[in-house]
Amino acid sequence: MSVVTPALSMTVAGIDFASVLLNASGAFNAPFFNQLYPLNQALGGIVTKTVTQEPLAGNPQARTVELPGIGMLNSIGLQNPGLAYTLDADLPALKAYGLPVILSISAHSSAAFAHMVETAFSHPNGHLIEAVELNLSCPNVEKGGVHFGSAADSVREALNAVTSICTRPIFAKLTPNVGDIVAIGGAAIEGGAAGLTAINTVLGASIDIRRRKPALPRVSAGYSGPGIKPIALHAIWNLHKHFPETPIIGVGGVSSAEDVLEFLMAGASLVQVGTICFREPMIFKAITEQLQAYCVAEQLTSLGKLRGCAHV
Ligand SMILES: Cc1cc2nc3c(=O)[nH]c(=O)nc-3n(C[C@H](O)[C@H](O)[C@H](O)COP(=O)(O)O)c2cc1C
Repeated sequence: MSVVTPALSMTVAGIDFASVLLNASGAFNAPFFNQLYPLNQALGGIVTKTVTQEPLAGNPQARTVELPGIGMLNSIGLQNPGLAYTLDADLPALKAYGLPVILSISAHSSAAFAHMVETAFSHPNGHLIEAVELNLSCPNVEKGGVHFGSAADSVREALNAVTSICTRPIFAKLTPNVGDIVAIGGAAIEGGAAGLTAINTVLGASIDIRRRKPALPRVSAGYSGPGIKPIALHAIWNLHKHFPETPIIGVGGVSSAEDVLEFLMAGASLVQVGTICFREPMIFKAITEQLQAYCVAEQLTSLGKLRGCAHV
C-alpha cells in the first residue's frame, strides 16, 4: 500500500498509479533507492531497465560523459541480463516494493517484439507485469540499420504485432531523434499503443580535448538530464495537442516538482525521472513532498486536473 497522498494518484490505461512519478528506464537502481526511503513513499510505479530477449554485454568502456549543469551522455548499449533472468528474478524483486511494474523491452523486429511479449506473459511471473514499454530506439536490422523508432511503418507494425497478442497496456517510448515525433506517435497509436512515453535520449557527442579524440568510442551517445527538458516538453505538448485522448508519460530532464507540473500542464499523465537521480538520490522523495505541498497550497484534490491545462 502506498502512503502518498491521494491527490498525486493517476489512473492511466486502466492502471492505478498512487503517484504520477515513476523512474525512467535504465537510470534507476531500486534496491539502492529503497534503502534511502521506501519506494512506495516516493514513486507511483517502477519501470525496468530495457531488456532484450538474450543478455547483452553492452558497449565497450568508456560509456558515459558528465556534462556539468546540463546532464550527461551515455552509450551503455542496452547492457542487460536478458528476458529470462528478468522474468525469473527481477520481476518478483521489483514487485515486492508494492508498486505496478512496467516491463521495458527492446527488439530488432516486430516478430521479435511479439515473441518477447509472448514469452513474458506466458511466464509464471507474467502476471506481475502491469504494462509494457516498447523501447523503440534500437537499430532495426529489418530496415537496414535505421533506428526502429524513426520509421512510422515499423513502429505501427511493431505495435500491431504486440497489441494483437497482449491484453495488457503497451506504451510506445519515442525517440526525439526524428523529424516529426507526432507522426511516429500517431503510428504507434494506430498500432494500438495505450500510451506514449516521450522522450528517450537526444543524440549527442563530446570531444576529449586532452586526447583530441571523441570522448566515447562510438562517438554518438544519448544526451539526457536537465538540458533536454525543453525538448521533452515540446514533444509532450505536440503529442498531447494532436492526441489529447492518449495518455503520455513525460520524461526528459525533469529535476524538480516544478518540472513535473510543467509536464502535466503540457499534457503528460505520468512523469518519469532519470539522470538527475544519479546526482540527487533523494530527488524522488523531495519531488513527492513538494507535489504534496503544492496540492495543499493550491487546494488541488487531484494532479490529474492539471493534465493539459496549459492548452486551453
Ligand atoms: C544511463 C542511462 C541508461 C538508460 N537506459 C535506458 C534503457 O535501458 N531504456 C530506455 O528506454 N531508456 C533508457 N535511458 C533513457 C531514460 O529512460 C530517459 O528516457 C532519458 O534519460 C531522459 O530522461 P532524463 O533526462 O530524466 O534522464 C537511459 C538513460 C540513461 C542516462
